[in-house]
Amino acid sequence: MLFLEALGGVRGERPPIWFMRQAGRSLPEYRALRAEHEMLDLIRQPELAAEVTLQPIRRFGMDAAIIFADILNPLIGMGMDLEFEKGSGPRFKNPVRTPLDVEHLEVLSPNEVVPYTLEALGLVRQVLDREYSTALIGFAGAPFTLSYYMIEGGASKNALYLKSFMYDHGVSWQLLQDKLVQFTVEYLCAQVEAGAQAVQLFDSWVGLLSPAQYLKFAAPSVRAIVAGVRERTNVPIIYLAMNSFAFFGEVVKSGADALSIDWRQSLSQAAQLAGPEIALQGNLDPALLACSWEALEPEVDNLLEESKGISNGYVFNLGHGVLPESKLENLERTVAKVKAFRFDS
Ligand code: CP3
Repeated sequence: MLFLEALGGVRGERPPIWFMRQAGRSLPEYRALRAEHEMLDLIRQPELAAEVTLQPIRRFGMDAAIIFADILNPLIGMGMDLEFEKGSGPRFKNPVRTPLDVEHLEVLSPNEVVPYTLEALGLVRQVLDREYSTALIGFAGAPFTLSYYMIEGGASKNALYLKSFMYDHGVSWQLLQDKLVQFTVEYLCAQVEAGAQAVQLFDSWVGLLSPAQYLKFAAPSVRAIVAGVRERTNVPIIYLAMNSFAFFGEVVKSGADALSIDWRQSLSQAAQLAGPEIALQGNLDPALLACSWEALEPEVDNLLEESKGISNGYVFNLGHGVLPESKLENLERTVAKVKAFRFDS
């Protein structure tokens, strides 16, 4: 499979392509299901989660599917009270604000917490193996980004609760990271056992940190997860550290097989910092999918051209998730264009 080969550093005839958030609100068939079911219902019913995972594959034929779930729903099993509010995104009604709150968080097994996601992975994998040559990706949130949501309670610009907790309650912060690392290693390994052929770790909020803060508060838990998963499985691990160009040299040391990069740095710059051994994924600005094809097409061409000049394994993707406002024909044409491209032409 092109996708798994690329993550392993092998350059096939063309780059494989998938889009982060390819399943979701940009698709009318997702919105139709969503009109009848709450977000958490879609995640908790394996048949529905499998259906949503497959929707973009049927429509566009990407080279990889990502299991439909969220980085936050597993935290319900730790005792977090999660709500997806219409319009304002995810919210925890009982944010973590004291050392006692951290002590109360439970670390249960993935089989107890997210059996439905593990079942959905098996269902999707059966269909993909039977009908498509498409790889299946499992995923989890990285501890720093999970801590951000747990402590803030929802998206927050300055993240003052989070940063105060990091500095004022160092011992509890460490306990929180340890609990999240412990669960996440188990969760990713369980996803692999259930059918995931690669896993991606999402660190969407590390851009809030200085290089020194990243090194101290975020990097150690990422390295621990990568090492823990590597010890028990042999699937490729992709790490996404959003907005991390200021400390990309540290991100490179995560141990991940592949790094997902955003549009704030160029592919060639990332390749130079990463060296040839680490595969790269990205990095089209997702806003382009909402622009005209006349604007988008040359940007796709430029990125493909740039990818010829690096020797790393390369996966075509966006720098962040598909926006709900994206034009469907843009997704379709981009997939077709990448599939028609050849590295050696
Ligand atoms: O297609 C896929 O990528 C797989 C499913 C997936 C979702 N969330 C579904 C979802 C994945 C991989 C995620 C990851 C995720 N979730 C991240 C990391 C990636 C990133 O975007 O930075 C984060 C930070 C979250 C937390 C989260 N979940 C937010 C901030 C939101 C609201 C904003 C938004 O984009 O809608 C969600 C909700 C969510 N997760 C939706 C979907 C399809 C929309 C739910 C709806 O239908 O209303």
